[in-house]
Amino acid sequence: MNKQTRAVRNLVLTVFVITLTNCSPPQEVEEFRLPISINEVMASLINHSADPIWIAAWRNPVTEQDWRELEHLARQLQVGGALLTIPGSGPVDTMWTSRRNWREYSLALSDSAGRAVNAARSKDMELVKRAGDEIIAICESCHSDFKPDLPTMNIYGELSPTADEIDD
Ligand code: HEC
Repeated sequence: MNKQTRAVRNLVLTVFVITLTNCSPPQEVEEFRLPISINEVMASLINHSADPIWIAAWRNPVTEQDWRELEHLARQLQVGGALLTIPGSGPVDTMWTSRRNWREYSLALSDSAGRAVNAARSKDMELVKRAGDEIIAICESCHSDFKPDLPTMNIYGELSPTADEIDD
């Protein structure tokens, strides 16, 4: 084999190997899942971050720090709502997240929480209350559709006075 032939053979081999590498079957893309169940997201993130929004409605934030805290919690709720669209480790999470109205409630929750963020930023108590009332209505609607057998009342911690109007 002369030098030139060897060079050609090496080139052909290299091209062959590169082609093989590129032609390997596409990797299975694993569905992304949250590392915890939706129920845990609900208890540790959603419920936790929503509480202060309606508590704020009757215990006016005073200091700069109070308002900042309210804004951060509203942000957590905004992200939390969006996270509810992704199934986690719970046994029926996928069934829930695949339902259209589940998705709508989750994104509506995220949107209302986004309005609470803006309200906290502009230190507007009226808008905080309005966002808080929207949020409660969404929690209740989703619970009555998806967990009607569990009591919905008394899980909201301390309700803002304006929330009473919704319960009537
Ligand atoms: C998209 C639907 C949906 C929305 C929106 C929603 N929830 Fe839930 N929530 C559920 C379901 C379903 C369960 C029951 C989960 C289970 O049993 O595994 C639940 C459970 C809970 C629990 C009980 C957790 C436990 O461990 O007992 C609390 C508290 C709760 N939700 C609070 C809230 C609050 C507060 C809001 C609004 C800020 C809210 N949820 C919004 C669907 C929703």
